[in-house]
Amino acid sequence: MDAKELQPIKQRYGIVGNCEALNHALDTALQVARTDLSVLITGESGVGKEVLPRLIHDNSLRRTRKYFAINCGSIPEGTIDSELFGHEKGAFTGAIGEHEGYFGAADGGTLFLDEVGELPLSTQARLLRVLESGEYIRVGSSEVRKTNVRIVAATNVNIQVAIRDGKFREDLFYRLNTIPIKMPPLRERGEDILLLFKKFAMEIAAKYQMPERISLSAEAEEVMKRYKWPGNIRQLKNITEQMSILMRESRIVTPEVLSEYEIWPTTEEQGLVRVSHAGDAHSYQSEREMLFQMINALHREVSELKQQLSTMSVSGKMSTTVPVSPATMVPVVPSAIIHPHQTEAENGHADATPYAEEYVEESLSIDEQEKRLIIKALEKNRGRRKKAADELHISERTLYRKIKEYGLEET
Ligand SMILES: Nc1ncnc2c1ncn2[C@@H]1O[C@H](COP(=O)(O)OP(=O)(O)OP(=O)(O)O)[C@@H](O)[C@H]1O
Ligand SMILES: [Mg+2]
Repeated sequence: MDAKELQPIKQRYGIVGNCEALNHALDTALQVARTDLSVLITGESGVGKEVLPRLIHDNSLRRTRKYFAINCGSIPEGTIDSELFGHEKGAFTGAIGEHEGYFGAADGGTLFLDEVGELPLSTQARLLRVLESGEYIRVGSSEVRKTNVRIVAATNVNIQVAIRDGKFREDLFYRLNTIPIKMPPLRERGEDILLLFKKFAMEIAAKYQMPERISLSAEAEEVMKRYKWPGNIRQLKNITEQMSILMRESRIVTPEVLSEYEIWPTTEEQGLVRVSHAGDAHSYQSEREMLFQMINALHREVSELKQQLSTMSVSGKMSTTVPVSPATMVPVVPSAIIHPHQTEAENGHADATPYAEEYVEESLSIDEQEKRLIIKALEKNRGRRKKAADELHISERTLYRKIKEYGLEET
């Protein structure tokens, strides 16, 4: 099936994206839908695995029969066997009546076992049996029952590691993995990130009747594509929603806005941006890019240090080594080294003050860089504020406010 043929399916299930790996996953799902083969969907958390089992069921010969989606990770270990395979009356304390269980109820249909890696080993043995022979036994019974259920399972844990650690049965893995489908992580989906962003921005704007949806500046698009997205589409959706609601002055998302949400471009080796010196290294554009990246790097370091400090003790054992930023080669020492409720003397750091001052200097230098950017933009556009604001991807109002803030009225 080519990309065009997949379009109606994508529309029906609200699937956005056109990258090869996504199309391949959808194509495989549709190909196997009409068979009874077990399918194992793998992929990191938040990549969008949950849409596939429904798509498989709806396109199978079982489409008129029952479909159940069960999250194996959310059912307590003590009741999971009874939930899946049913129980007899009096099988355990509290089993007042008999219970059919999903394998009985879904006879002729499809069961989606989400987070299958979370199943306890004893349940895995029962599952293997029903997959191999269609036979199962209710809890508290000795009667063998038959069922005809198609299994689609999903997991975001590395099953190979679980097998190695003795947490997942290898034979069950092979049985489930008859048809493997891998959903790609967002960071490998190229332009899809921008399409997804647009979809979520439009949805939230429509939901709250906002006059304008948020959109990305050209630089922000690059940042989005080069960020690693550990939470994948779920994270992108959450962040887009947050920005849609919180951005009031300007509806254009810039790299600075993204940095407030901890979205940074990363390189493979060090996770930090390298400044590109391609082309005219002294041009305004490359200088501006460089400053953006420095600001981003500084923001990130400060928040990382804040995080580290929240878990650190201030008992006086702390190393006095000043951390050095690999990106900027600037020592960055947060003021929080001094406990807010302690004086310096109590804190035992006679020399703590310089640290705090250095931190203040750093944050000032971010302002300084912003100020320089604004001066440059105004100079370049001969004082025309609208043009300067456009170039900086900020609203005229924000520029006006910043001009006042930095005392640049004469520029
Ligand atoms: N291609 C897509 N187009 C639009 N929205 C998507 C797409 N893929 C996923 N989503 C949305 O992203 C969110 C996360 O998807 P989903 O719940 O399927 O993740 P998952 O892979 O099951 O993650 P986990 O392993 O953590 O359960 C959902 O809100 C879903 O609607
Ligand atoms: Mg899921």
